[in-house]
Amino acid sequence: MSTSISADITIKEVVERYPGADRVFGAHGLPCAGCHVSTHETIRQGAMVHHLDLDAVMRDLDRYIADGTVPPQRERPATQRTAPPERARKPGIDNVVAVMSGKGGVGKSLVTALLAVALRARGYSVGVLDADITGPSMARLFGVSARPYEGPDKKPHPPTTRGGIPIMSMNLILDKEGDAVIWRGPMVSRAIQQFYTDLEWGKIDYLFIDLPPGTSDAPLTVLQALPVSGVVLVTTPQGLTTMIVSKAIKLAQQLKTPVIGLVENMSYFEDAAAGKRYELFGPSKGVQLVVESGAPLLAQLPIDPALTELCDAGRVEEYRSPAYDTLAENFLKILPTLASERSAS
Ligand SMILES: Nc1ncnc2c1ncn2[C@@H]1O[C@H](COP(=O)(O)OP(=O)(O)OP(=O)(O)O)[C@@H](O)[C@H]1O
Ligand SMILES: [Mg+2]
Repeated sequence: MSTSISADITIKEVVERYPGADRVFGAHGLPCAGCHVSTHETIRQGAMVHHLDLDAVMRDLDRYIADGTVPPQRERPATQRTAPPERARKPGIDNVVAVMSGKGGVGKSLVTALLAVALRARGYSVGVLDADITGPSMARLFGVSARPYEGPDKKPHPPTTRGGIPIMSMNLILDKEGDAVIWRGPMVSRAIQQFYTDLEWGKIDYLFIDLPPGTSDAPLTVLQALPVSGVVLVTTPQGLTTMIVSKAIKLAQQLKTPVIGLVENMSYFEDAAAGKRYELFGPSKGVQLVVESGAPLLAQLPIDPALTELCDAGRVEEYRSPAYDTLAENFLKILPTLASERSAS
């Protein structure tokens, strides 16, 4: 029987027309259901981006439409299996997710915080490690100023946010928040490793690591010395950011750390009263980066003055918006991918 659908219709349309068809894409390793791009990506484009055998996808879709058969998990092409090298894991911490960009000021810390809050709200145990030693911002976002403390076990424990997330940041051990940390690379690297190994984090399903801008000491330490299961890349629509994020993609690929998702921040500003959207930094470059990284676009976050206010007030845990829900839901959809990358290591 010839297929009843064309490869040039969008993945979203297929899933809408044939509920459950996302499982067929999933069997081919296409994280379409978790990809914000799938709303305007065709089956052909999806297969190309994720290096899949288009004919096999179409055959399996055809079969599913005919009799509801979901194929077994298909082998992902070798190029997709970038298992991270073996690095010492700390007992109790199951997955380490690094949030990176290369570019400064694009919202890495914000996305780290939002992902941690989203997973915590959904019942996972999460932690946040601020690997930006010289320009830390996580403690401020969460409004935490308590120092690490000695627990009944006589070991150092990280303080927790109001929402119960353990957090460690350089700011929490400085005498004054505004004190400068003038350290060279090796000291920065040692501090990051000590935050990971010496603190008693407890049982953590996902430890989110907020990286500083650039591709120098801190990102290298995290990707080389810590058992990172995957990297989430944060970008904005400006051409300059796209170019720098491309470097970060290459760094992750060179260090054999899977890029598990992209988040485009500051994608647009919505004037709700006028019912208009403005792409202040130009049109999205998300598709280009999806092609380059092979990872799904998890969300496009708008510029939201309410969010700026909450960040400045240390109340990021209170943020709610439809774009945030999309980020949270799509991140949950890629968690199985993360688990399989981890078990491949
Ligand atoms: N989508 C957004 N809407 C409103 N404000 C935002 C948004 N994204 C970021 N901001 C604001 O910009 C600030 C800077 O973002 P953030 O600190 O997360 O960037 P960064 O990439 O971590 O920067 P750095 O490179 O310095 O570490 C946030 O504290 C927040 O106030
Ligand atoms: Mg930051």
